[in-house]
Amino acid sequence: MFHYEPKDLTVSEVYKLLVGGVGPRPIALVSTISEDGINNLSPFSFFNTFGSNPPIIAFSPTRRRKDASHKDTYNNLMATKECVVQVVTYSIVGQVNLASTEYTSEVDEFIRSGLTPIDSDFVKPKRVKESPFQMECKLVDMKSYGEKGSSANISICEVLKFHISEEVFTNGIIDPQKIDLVSKMPGNFYCRAYGDAIFELPRPQMKQNIGYNQIPDFMKNSNVYTGNNLAAFALVENIPDKSEVDEFIKKILNENPEEIEVTEDAFFKYLEESNYLYMLKAVIHFAKVNHSQLNKFIQLTAKCALENNNKDFAWKAALYELNFHN
Ligand SMILES: Cc1cc2nc3c(=O)[nH]c(=O)nc-3n(C[C@H](O)[C@H](O)[C@H](O)COP(=O)(O)O)c2cc1C
Repeated sequence: MFHYEPKDLTVSEVYKLLVGGVGPRPIALVSTISEDGINNLSPFSFFNTFGSNPPIIAFSPTRRRKDASHKDTYNNLMATKECVVQVVTYSIVGQVNLASTEYTSEVDEFIRSGLTPIDSDFVKPKRVKESPFQMECKLVDMKSYGEKGSSANISICEVLKFHISEEVFTNGIIDPQKIDLVSKMPGNFYCRAYGDAIFELPRPQMKQNIGYNQIPDFMKNSNVYTGNNLAAFALVENIPDKSEVDEFIKKILNENPEEIEVTEDAFFKYLEESNYLYMLKAVIHFAKVNHSQLNKFIQLTAKCALENNNKDFAWKAALYELNFHN
C-alpha cells in the first residue's frame, strides 16, 4: 500500500486520488438561472442523494481551481435558491460534456449544448427535455469548506417535484437497463451502466444468517470459492447436517437415473452449460474412481449451483466434500 496525508500532496494530487478512488460517481446536470434571467447548465459529479424523507440531494460546484472564484452555478444558487437537477444518460453525455465548458456568465449553456429547455412547475430554472429524470429543487443549505481553489461548496437541495420519462419507468420503478445512466471515472473516463455492467445482489433478508465466520475452514481455504461466493454461502440460517447431505446425494442418484458422460471434458461442458446436476453426477463417479482432484471438482460444482442461485444444492454439494477428508 502507499500511504499519504493530504498535507504532503498538491491539490491536484489530492483531487486525482479522490476522483480515482471515489467512483463511479453519478452526474448531476444542474440547471440554474441568474438574477438577470440567464439560463445556466453544468454537470457536477460530486453528487449524490442522502435521504428520502424529505428527499435530499447534494452536489458541489467547487471554487475554480485557477483563481478560487465561484462558478456560475454556485452564484445562481446563492442568488435564487433554486435549481433543477437531472441525470445524465449515454445518449446525451456528449452534449453534457459540451455544457461543462467554462463559458462566461452571459452564455446560456442550453443554447451552446443544444439541449432543450422546458418550463418547470415550481422553480424558475428550466428542465432539460432530453434527460429522463429531472428534479425541481430548492436550496436548503450551502456548506462551504475552504476558500481556496477547488474548495467544496456542498449545495444541499430538497426535491420539490420529480419528472420521469414513461420510457424508463415500469410499475413505479426506474428500470436500470432502460435509463442507461453514465457516471464519472477519473480523467476523461466515464462508465456506462448498461447490459452486463448491471448485476443483481439481493440484500440479506433474514434477521439471522451464519455469517462468514461460521463457514467451515475447508471452504474458506478453497482456491475455487471467491470471497463473493463465501459471502453468498454465509446467507443461510443453518448449515445442512451430514444426514441431510447423505439424503441429498442418494436422491440425486435415485431421481436422475439417466446415464451421463463422466469424463473431465464432459464435466467442463456441463460447467459451461451451468448444468450443476450433471456436474454432481460426474463428481459422484469421480469419487468412486478416487479422482486425484476430487475436491476441486466438488467445489466447482457447488460454486456453479451457488452462482445459479440454488443455495441449498450448493451447500449440500459443498459439504459432500467432507466425505473425502481424512
Ligand atoms: C462530467 C463532469 C463532471 C463535473 N463535475 C464537477 C463537480 O463535481 N464540481 C465542479 O465544480 N465541477 C465539475 N465539473 C466541471 C464543471 O462542469 C465546469 O466547471 C462548469 O463550467 C461549471 O459551470 P458554471 O460556471 O456554469 O457553473 C464537471 C465537468 C464534467 C464534464
